[in-house]
Amino acid sequence: MTPEGDPERAWRPMRPEDVPAVIDLAAVVHPTFPERPAVFLDRIALCPEGALVADRPDVRAGLAAYALAHPASRHAPPRLDTVLGRLPADADALHVHDLAVDPACRGRGLAEAAVRRLLRLADARFAAATLVSVHGTPPFWERFGFRPRPDLLAPGRLATYGTDAVFMLRERPSAGAPRDRPGPGG
Ligand SMILES: CC(C)(COP(=O)(O)OP(=O)(O)OC[C@H]1O[C@@H](n2cnc3c(N)ncnc32)[C@H](O)[C@@H]1OP(=O)(O)O)[C@@H](O)C(=O)NCCC(=O)NCCS
Repeated sequence: MTPEGDPERAWRPMRPEDVPAVIDLAAVVHPTFPERPAVFLDRIALCPEGALVADRPDVRAGLAAYALAHPASRHAPPRLDTVLGRLPADADALHVHDLAVDPACRGRGLAEAAVRRLLRLADARFAAATLVSVHGTPPFWERFGFRPRPDLLAPGRLATYGTDAVFMLRERPSAGAPRDRPGPGG
């Protein structure tokens, strides 16, 4: 990915052989949330279309970014470092498990391109997308229509995500279903 490159075209499917580089980037971006390689391999197997990486041509075998998303229940986001084995039968949302951009590659639109791609996937299948925001990123997610929804979860559900974790949900714009509660201004 060059600074002048098209961020949409920088993303490609994550393959099992990418996992060591994904782990290296995760260690930089999420040092307090380590996840085992088996967790990444699990998500690739369960939802390959939601597992993405962007290469970093200036660093051999390095990644500029990765993203993971898969179907989940909006009331039960997976705990961190957990191998699922199969998708939940009651999946009703696309859950964005992780999005990480190398600090040297930020501000080039990589994350926005990944989110837009994942939301197209979400909107094609589900009436909602969910995620657990960490590192104070709710304002980033709000740009895409996500809103805090702690009311959907049982107490303690986010315990593995640290104290600043915020559960967020974005409803598909054309879903037509009644909202669970009014959004801002509504
Ligand atoms: C958050 C993160 C993914 C953004 O990646 P990025 O590639 O720099 O983002 P983009 O370049 O696509 O930014 C798109 C827009 O979002 C804005 N933005 C980026 N990070 C933001 C943040 N933390 N809060 C609010 N807005 C943010 C950018 O300014 C840009 O806006 P503009 O188009 O008006 O200039 C990246 O900083 C990161 O990996 N952070 C650490 C990991 C993390 O927190 N991931 C999310 C966990 S839930």
